Amino acid sequence: MSALHLELARVNHEMYQSITNFEKEFRMYHDILKDHGCSSILELGCGSGSLAQYFVKEGYRYIGLDKSPERLSIAYELNPGIDFMQGDMREFTMKKPVDAVIISGRSFTYMTKNKEVNNALKCIYNALKTKGLLIFDSFNAKDVFLNFRKDYIQRAECNGRKYMRVNKNSMNMNSGWTWKRIATYYIEEKGKDTRVIRDKTMLRAFTEEELNLFLELNGFKVLRLLNNGTLTVIAQKKTGSRN
Ligand SMILES: C[S@@+](CC[C@H](N)C(=O)[O-])C[C@H]1O[C@@H](n2cnc3c(N)ncnc32)[C@H](O)[C@@H]1O
Repeated sequence: MSALHLELARVNHEMYQSITNFEKEFRMYHDILKDHGCSSILELGCGSGSLAQYFVKEGYRYIGLDKSPERLSIAYELNPGIDFMQGDMREFTMKKPVDAVIISGRSFTYMTKNKEVNNALKCIYNALKTKGLLIFDSFNAKDVFLNFRKDYIQRAECNGRKYMRVNKNSMNMNSGWTWKRIATYYIEEKGKDTRVIRDKTMLRAFTEEELNLFLELNGFKVLRLLNNGTLTVIAQKKTGSRN
């Protein structure tokens, strides 16, 4: 675990506590899961586990999975007794199938190649019980690419620290609706010099048609696709085998 990645994980965790309303997000998932009688859930790309407590308090059997040991170290620290595991959503297996898989915070947009999307959906299919639910959100390609924002700044404040993230985006489109984001974080803390960290990421957006096709090909039926700034997909594992 590198000190730089740990600091980046902490900065992201703190920034998103003021950017995202995790309780509201939990309620959105809970309303859908409740309607389908789901009680065991796996969250992929759970990061520092900001949703975990809500699910556990509501009585769900919850497991969080993330690739980053640094983000998981925060998840363990803040959610004692809750199950997390390190893993890659493109190649994981579950001992016991679950009722639902959720992928929040647009973690699915890290699947920048078609092969990665298919691999992840195949693992999710195998991790779900028959008729199990998959709920995830993603950037909408039309919104992102028709109104492409090359630069934007996000600010947040948490535990006496002020954060500014300067995002510089450039279109890539080598493997789908992809773009490169260089994020420079400025961390201002009383009595200390401003620290600067830089992070490069490749992200992907999807069109509604692409999501429908990927899901259909991988044995899912799309129940609903909501377009409210981001695309939120509610899909169900079909009975029978994948194509
Ligand atoms: C934008 S963060 C969202 C975290 C969390 N869902 C939230 O809303 O706070 C994306 C997360 O996806 C994780 N991630 C990216 N690629 C992954 C992969 N292939 N398998 C598992 N996790 C992955 C990152 O480590 C990171 O924690």
